[in-house]
Amino acid sequence: MNLLEVFHRDMVPEPWAEGEKIPWDDPAFSRRMLKEHLSQRHDAASRRTATLKKHVDWIHSSILDAKPSRILDLGCGPGLYTARLAGLGHACHGIDFSPASIEYAVKRSPDGCTYALGDIRTTGFGSGYDLVMLIFGEFNVFKPEDANLILSKSFAALNPGGKLLLEVTTYDAVYELGYQPATWYSAENELLADEPHVCLMESFWDENQSVAIERYYVLDATSAEVTRYSASTQAYENDRLAKMLVRAGFETPDFYPSLTGKPAELSEMIVLLSHI
Ligand SMILES: C[S@@+](CC[C@H](N)C(=O)[O-])C[C@H]1O[C@@H](n2cnc3c(N)ncnc32)[C@H](O)[C@@H]1O
Repeated sequence: MNLLEVFHRDMVPEPWAEGEKIPWDDPAFSRRMLKEHLSQRHDAASRRTATLKKHVDWIHSSILDAKPSRILDLGCGPGLYTARLAGLGHACHGIDFSPASIEYAVKRSPDGCTYALGDIRTTGFGSGYDLVMLIFGEFNVFKPEDANLILSKSFAALNPGGKLLLEVTTYDAVYELGYQPATWYSAENELLADEPHVCLMESFWDENQSVAIERYYVLDATSAEVTRYSASTQAYENDRLAKMLVRAGFETPDFYPSLTGKPAELSEMIVLLSHI
């Protein structure tokens, strides 16, 4: 892509038409993203260790009643939750399509943890799980038809009485994302490129479909070549989420303010827990 094409871009993008999400599955991007997952300076890709430990504690003691369980973590990233849950006696399987994250998870995999590199829309989940989890808002970044597919596959993967734990971005937080002012930055070597670059960002809110669309134009500072990334995030009202779960076979979910079960400061997420 070149700057002229940026200039002539669609002024109102269609949700998901220009790319579904940031390129988690690109090997070079995933290597850069892994650093962000592990960073203790921010909570952007994964939570920092102190928060993550509180989440694991709630999952272990309140959701699983401290009983050794089989857990499937969808979009597990570098296995920060699975490794800790395995340490508490659970058997965990993580699926993610980020090569660097899965490589990291496998290398540090404690007993009781297995991983698969794969897209959760197309990879088989297997069966016999007591808990399926999909956390940190990734659910919203799937098209609704893919989100429904993931729910049906999760239902099929669970034992009778098994549970589904979903952490989604709130409607209001997605709406705000769609109204972020356009901005830009320059960097030597950052998440979106290994070489010096300028990144132009803009956001949109699609009122009809309740979707926020983010665009990133990455301009290579040497060649002026442009790479476009785009991510669309679906906003869901709580009752729509509950209906989607029920349609997939689950009981009406309970809602919690965070993965500790308690209100969290500045939280843009909400947690649904359902069972079959
Ligand atoms: C926000 S990160 C959260 C990672 C992890 N759950 C955590 O909280 O530490 C979202 C993860 O979902 C993964 N992901 C996104 N879309 C995916 C897909 N279609 N199939 C498999 N993994 C996916 C990304 O690679 C990334 O690791």
